[in-house]
Amino acid sequence: CELARANTLGLPCRAAFFAAPSTLSALRDCLGAARRAGQRITLLGGGSNVLLPPRLGGVVVRPALRQWWLERDGDRVRAHVGAGVNWHGLVMTLAARGLWGLENLALIPGDCGAAPVQNIGAYGVELADALHAVEVMYLASGRTRRLSPGECRFGYRDSVFKHELAGEVAITRLVLELGRTPRPVLGYGDLAARAGADPTALEVAQTVSAIRREKLPDPRRLPNAGSFFKNPVVEHSVAKRLLEQHPDMPHFPQAGGGCKLAAGWLVDRCGLKGQRFGAFGVHERQALVLVHFGGGDRAGLKRAAGQVAGAVKERFGVALEVEPRTIPA
Ligand code: EPU
Repeated sequence: CELARANTLGLPCRAAFFAAPSTLSALRDCLGAARRAGQRITLLGGGSNVLLPPRLGGVVVRPALRQWWLERDGDRVRAHVGAGVNWHGLVMTLAARGLWGLENLALIPGDCGAAPVQNIGAYGVELADALHAVEVMYLASGRTRRLSPGECRFGYRDSVFKHELAGEVAITRLVLELGRTPRPVLGYGDLAARAGADPTALEVAQTVSAIRREKLPDPRRLPNAGSFFKNPVVEHSVAKRLLEQHPDMPHFPQAGGGCKLAAGWLVDRCGLKGQRFGAFGVHERQALVLVHFGGGDRAGLKRAAGQVAGAVKERFGVALEVEPRTIPA
């Protein structure tokens, strides 16, 4: 089974087996069958944040759980959402119904089930801000369990699903907490100026989508995985030293200590915007996005990323960490 179209970077990847179970019992059966056959299980969502190897052994499982429903309780509304629901479609549907909470996360590609893994975030909001619970199925036993937001240990582009629970569970459902009372979060960049006065949830979602379309390449036209590096958090002393040399450097002091820098700005300042490295390149409008022009593979992408990170390290002394997950071969 060829998975080049199942990952937004368009990396070539051949998997021995692929399954897309659409009910919990089908998922349980599928995991059980793989286990009995001694096959390794790799979980995949929309493929928008993964670096796939050319060959993938075992069984690739993409949960196709597409049911979702709303539970109303006065002003509070909970959305119970299957892992296989498309994230952006959900955001727009909820915003159009006047439900607040996810509108800043419009146009993020991928499936709902993958959203907690990296705690997707954009324009001042993270998934964790609207999440009530995550339901999972253990790969080894088929048992299901509900995790509280605390148990998910969310951080910046981070969660327990990248650590202790990596390779242990399939995320089956999200429970999201939404509200009917307007609560726009417009503090990031020029969102407030562009959204206008008293915007509806749908107007905020549409404004975020428009801003993203201006900067970020559409993966269907130019394969990419969004931001390729995390924004680095450095010691205050490091930020201070850099600011003395570059007073215009974007920097964001963090509540938990340290100072977050804009990796896109660092790459841009190395003069790499639009630079090509073989089959890959730095996007010409957003330096944090690496794009695939075709014909490349994961090794080539890692080489390109190494050159970009190397240039930033040499010029600014700051190490960049790759954001998409590397899936073992
Ligand atoms: N910048 C440049 N040159 C560039 C890119 C950025 O100078 O080529 C500067 C911008 O002018 C701005 C700063 O860097 O001052 C930050 O840029 P931007 O607002 O575009 O956001 P980002 O830090 O590059 C992060 C997230 C995005 C998210 C946006 C908006 C990460 C790794 N990335 O990008 O998330 O959409 O903020 O909230 O945190 C993703 O994770 O895939 C992703 C797209």
